[in-house]
Amino acid sequence: MIRRISLNTNMENTENYSEIEEQNRYMELAGKELAELSGMLGRPLKAIVVTFGCQMNARDSEKLRGILKKVGYETTERESDADFVIYNTCTVRENANTHVYGRLGKLVSLKRKNPQLHVALCGCMMQEPEVVAKVRKSYPVVDLIFGTHNLFQFPELLYHVIHDRKRVIEVWEGTDKIVEDLPIERKYSFKSGVNIMFGCNNFCSYCIVPYVRGRERSREPEAILSEIRGLAKDGVREIMLLGQNVNSYGKNLAEPVSFAQLLERVCMIDGIERVRFMTSHPKDLSDELIRVIAEQPKICRHLHLPVQSGSTEILRRMNRKYTREDYMTLIGKIRAAVPDLSLTTDIIVGFPGETEEDFADTLSLVEEVGYDSVFTFIYSKRTGTPAAAMPEQVDDKVVHARFDRLLETVKKGAEEKCARFAGRTMDVLVEEVNKEPGYVTGRISHNLVVHFPGDESMIGTTVPVKLDDCRGFYYFGTPVLPDGKE
Ligand code: 5AD
Ligand code: SF4
Repeated sequence: MIRRISLNTNMENTENYSEIEEQNRYMELAGKELAELSGMLGRPLKAIVVTFGCQMNARDSEKLRGILKKVGYETTERESDADFVIYNTCTVRENANTHVYGRLGKLVSLKRKNPQLHVALCGCMMQEPEVVAKVRKSYPVVDLIFGTHNLFQFPELLYHVIHDRKRVIEVWEGTDKIVEDLPIERKYSFKSGVNIMFGCNNFCSYCIVPYVRGRERSREPEAILSEIRGLAKDGVREIMLLGQNVNSYGKNLAEPVSFAQLLERVCMIDGIERVRFMTSHPKDLSDELIRVIAEQPKICRHLHLPVQSGSTEILRRMNRKYTREDYMTLIGKIRAAVPDLSLTTDIIVGFPGETEEDFADTLSLVEEVGYDSVFTFIYSKRTGTPAAAMPEQVDDKVVHARFDRLLETVKKGAEEKCARFAGRTMDVLVEEVNKEPGYVTGRISHNLVVHFPGDESMIGTTVPVKLDDCRGFYYFGTPVLPDGKE
């Protein structure tokens, strides 16, 4: 721990000490200072949160936006208009890091133009000591750094940056704390992510997540359910339960609850029409969960089940704790219970030691499973992970050639899969107006994107749409009127 600043000087001894009360007080203080500054400047202050990485980061960014709004910042979409820029970073792959450094360089000239500009960095990349050292030394444009474990402290740290006019760096190595009830500014009015757990205990040998997000911690079911009830009251129709490994949810709670049990309770909440979840680890996906998915119509007909490789030997080296055969057996069970389910996955190409044979196993697995979509990644060496020290790193050229071959196989399979809905009428939850004037865009339960004629008033509503024209990975459709007419 680098430094802890607190308004509550007696913090350690106060039994009823509430972190959220403390942060609320900081939001009030920061709000007052920022209102004065805005008055002096004769204009509103604006902030932008830029998100890199996964759905967990997207949800964290909604918390950052909630806090920034509460202390008085208006939202802007452009960094050049902003008085506060915060990058919520990702470090799963090296190129995400490189991208952040590139963008920081560009902020220097913006700060020259607007001396009020504050720049902050948070998220997974900041949990790496080498990154913080580099930013500290080479990027004086950055005023505030915090990590994933103390995001809840943002009001406090923000206040100190504004009030003390000093650089603040506060990164924690870990935490067992889960702070509830931070303000949240949702991106969509009708759908929302909900964290159910934080961290990961799996230590896949390529993955940096367990080092930067810490050990698994589950939220209490009551806290989750009460958040979702509140969201439903607020007009949210679809929720996405979020965790690095949702299938092991609840194992470490004082009163253990399984993920399947949690899902059943979530499905009982009035007003919630669709429930999604992410990410599932094949080794923890239980028969109980498959049964619940089959039984509960609110659970979306889509499962993201990262396989990473089709070769048992590579899976062993990845420390995934299942074989190709285990994975295929699981797919068989899932398909038997829920035949129409859309399946998606993550695959890494070029893991150390991957031979042509191993890679052929991956291609054949993709064909055998018949995924609706596959997220493909080139292996990225992450310092500190066991795989980074493995001797047989694969040559770049070989990896890129394999990557292209995989994309081709994925594309062919996914297009065929996607076409299976052609001509059917399916419920589409409308998400946004399309760039094409007169069109809106939404998703079916299977997570497939559909465009059809409509307007802004449809956003957040569910419309039956006839899926006319499959264009690879999405459809153009026609809304079906209540009397069955198109
Ligand atoms: N290199 C490439 N891809 C990675 N992923 C995680 N770590 C790495 C890495 N070092 C991928 C995995 C994971 C997804 C979120 O990112 O496929 O499922
Ligand atoms: Fe990384 Fe594996 Fe945990 Fe996923 S399950 S976050 S790939 S360690």
